[in-house]
Amino acid sequence: MKKNKQLGFATRAIHCGQEPDPLTGAVTVPIYPTSTYVQQGIGEHKGYEYSRVSNPTRARLEENLAALEGGVAARVFASGMAAINAVVSMLKSGDHVVCGNDLYGGTPRLFNQVISNFGLEFSYIDTSEAENVERGIRKNTRMVYVETPTNPLMRLSDLAAISSICRRRKVDLVVDNTFMSPYFQQPIALGADLVVHSTTKFLNGHSDGLGGVVVCAKPEHAEKLAFLQKAAGAILSPFECWLVLRGVKTLAARMEIHDRSGRIVADFLSQHPKVKAMFYPGLKNHPQHALAKKQMSGFGAMITFETGSLKNANRMLKRLRVCSLGESLGGVETLISHPATMTHAALGEKGRKAIGITDGMVRISVGIEDVNDLVNDLDQALNAI
Ligand SMILES: Cc1ncc(COP(=O)(O)O)c(C=O)c1O
Repeated sequence: MKKNKQLGFATRAIHCGQEPDPLTGAVTVPIYPTSTYVQQGIGEHKGYEYSRVSNPTRARLEENLAALEGGVAARVFASGMAAINAVVSMLKSGDHVVCGNDLYGGTPRLFNQVISNFGLEFSYIDTSEAENVERGIRKNTRMVYVETPTNPLMRLSDLAAISSICRRRKVDLVVDNTFMSPYFQQPIALGADLVVHSTTKFLNGHSDGLGGVVVCAKPEHAEKLAFLQKAAGAILSPFECWLVLRGVKTLAARMEIHDRSGRIVADFLSQHPKVKAMFYPGLKNHPQHALAKKQMSGFGAMITFETGSLKNANRMLKRLRVCSLGESLGGVETLISHPATMTHAALGEKGRKAIGITDGMVRISVGIEDVNDLVNDLDQALNAI
């Protein structure tokens, strides 16, 4: 089935790239665990030569994810970080990237501690004000890199406004859409050039494999990234491609529950006497609630809240029985993390303070368990503070 904009999201998730196997009729995509392919003669083959370059299971996943994000093509990588590394590997020494100042901590770690050694420049600004992006663009700027909502402060960036600035200034807009998934946010439709995901999160959805994807709006980016898959080799294995193909079949259904339960948990937390502050775009008092309603078709499962201190956070986290303390997000199980010591430890105390991440902050990825069990668990744990 070709990418068909007339089909609904859930239908595309289940059928695009997921057609029955032509050889056997198997309804699931076969896993091709092969390193190479027999050739009929010199230069004569069936389209596959070596699995670093291409693999049929990977090709199916790439077709599927391109269809879900509305891109011309997708390229999958061994992790979200490998995907982000591939994006900036399209640049060259002397190029500059304007980045949001509240990204997943691993992204500035890659940019500042690895990529900048090769002569690329990165600057960090608050992209929740689109004018800051305009001001941040320099002569040598080639990309603007944003996450929306941000991790963990849940600040939004206006993708339509930023993409029109980028188009005018001839700069590519890259959006990390991991938190929302293509189900709730479609950056390419809003003008983005490249969309990145850690497929480890909602796309896979079951916390059983790492992966990353870059979805491209332009064929020239797709070509460059295919070359980087071949040249640098950080590709996703056929088995892990298959896990994501299986995961995305239920993406629409999972996201509906994540969103419904997320709203209930956020309402509960916002009224709890032990919760000092809330960061969730679905709440009416979130400063960008109106933008959230315009730009996203749901509010998702990610909620950050303030417990007041490291001691309070630790006391509460130790008492959890249903929710689990752990890094990552987007799985069927509710995961709670502590940004200051986990995802954002690499920023250092000064870096965290500069953008407002405190030691008492806790981030929850609301899973699809019975929501009453989640609320009761959070209630008993918070009451321990
Ligand atoms: C928003 C976001 N982008 C990228 C990544 C990196 O993905 P991975 O862990 O698959 O390398 C993460 C990981 O937590 C993330 O939360």
